[in-house]
Amino acid sequence: MPARIVIGAQYGDEGKGKIVDFFAEKAELVARFNGGNNAGHTVVVGKETFKFHLIPSGAVQGKECCICAGTAIDPAVMIEEISMIEKTGRKTKLSIDGRAQIIMPWHKQLDGASEQAKGKQKIGTTGRGIGPCYADRAARQGIRFCDFADKKRLDAKIKEIAPTKIKEIEKVYGLKSEFSVESTIKEFSKYSSELAKYLSDCSEKVNESIDAKKNVLLEGAQGTFLDNDFGTYPFVTSSHPLAGGALVGIGMGINRISYCTGVAKAYCTRVGSGPFITEIEGSLADQLRKKGAEFGTTTGRPRRIGWIDLPMLRTAHMWNNFTDLAITKLDVLSGQKEVKACISYKAGSKVFDKVPYDTEVLAKCKPEYKSFKGFELPPKISSFDDLPQEAIDFLRFVQGETSVPIKIISYGAERMQTLDLF
Ligand code: GDP
Ligand code: IMO
Ligand code: MG
Repeated sequence: MPARIVIGAQYGDEGKGKIVDFFAEKAELVARFNGGNNAGHTVVVGKETFKFHLIPSGAVQGKECCICAGTAIDPAVMIEEISMIEKTGRKTKLSIDGRAQIIMPWHKQLDGASEQAKGKQKIGTTGRGIGPCYADRAARQGIRFCDFADKKRLDAKIKEIAPTKIKEIEKVYGLKSEFSVESTIKEFSKYSSELAKYLSDCSEKVNESIDAKKNVLLEGAQGTFLDNDFGTYPFVTSSHPLAGGALVGIGMGINRISYCTGVAKAYCTRVGSGPFITEIEGSLADQLRKKGAEFGTTTGRPRRIGWIDLPMLRTAHMWNNFTDLAITKLDVLSGQKEVKACISYKAGSKVFDKVPYDTEVLAKCKPEYKSFKGFELPPKISSFDDLPQEAIDFLRFVQGETSVPIKIISYGAERMQTLDLF
């Protein structure tokens, strides 16, 4: 079985967790390759709701899970999440790559301090220490899971790194550090004892599974437009949510992934700062936010709401080369008199059908819309033919404009509320 990757095509929270759960039924191994507990992936099965931050959503189906080299791990969150799964009677078949980075107390405090110092210019991060952790990786002063799993090495790293971080917090930001060398050694020694058993080489595991023709599923976190290079910089995360991120985030060659599913909402949302061309405000936004329960899975922040943005989806397709699209949350648009899709942007006399690279140019863009007649979804949907013609027209337009076949339509949070068009 060739490997499949699931990628967020917008600003994150597209419903990747639900779509990964859909594919995980047939998967034998599910791997995360980027980000940390800035992610929040929701899977709803009957009356059970799972919110994953680190562990791949394939855990609900009891599948073998890998947390690969490109991720950032907060050990306390990891321990909590393992316990959440085990409490439901499921076993965690988990491996963590020795190369994954550890989020340390200084990363979290520096994330908050830097946001505060930026004032109005803040990114609106999740405050989970992601940016400072990846910055340390690039500066070659990160602590990797293989260091963390060996207490002697862990203590030595903490003694080497923490004093400089305390100085930075105190001298640069004028704050009191919330940790000391001793408190960190004590706290992390406990975490290390609990998690060391998961230490593994996930690159080898994933590659060998693909060689053995196993069904391998790769779960992206965040979304295309939060990519550190290609997103709306600087309003981005610090990892690479693009499909290409999986190659270096796992350690695999370019021809290993055969299918790439782009996940997009039938509209669009964003949490945190940065341009959002199709953003809607006022009562319509409030209505959709309420209906779609658009509050962050990780931070609980209200998500900003807007119409579906086709320049974004075309650009996301160019960068990820989607083989198929999963359109989620169609039910949230149900009952609207009118539904809109942004077909291009205009800035002065310039028209863009893809997202411009300069975030300042993007911020000046105005959306050009095509309007659709609204639709009401019937209470029971069992096939594509049950969808109202107006909804089909809208979806066909999205498919035509992105040149990617829509193969999954999600019309509710629950696992069964999914149309499989494969
Ligand atoms: P992710 O980060 O991409 O996995 O997405 P999140 O889990 O953060 O946010 C998606 C939210 O929408 C979750 O609360 C899901 O349970 C929910 N959801 C997913 N698909 C649908 C859908 O088709 N309809 C509705 N109403 N909710 C959905
Ligand atoms: P999932 O995987 C939505 C956003 C933050 C902020 C920016 C940088 O659930 O789709 P960070 O804490 O990463 O330094 O914040 O990125 N962000 C997300 N938005 N979904 C996510 O993950 C996100 N992860 C980060 O809101 O704007
Ligand atoms: Mg999310």
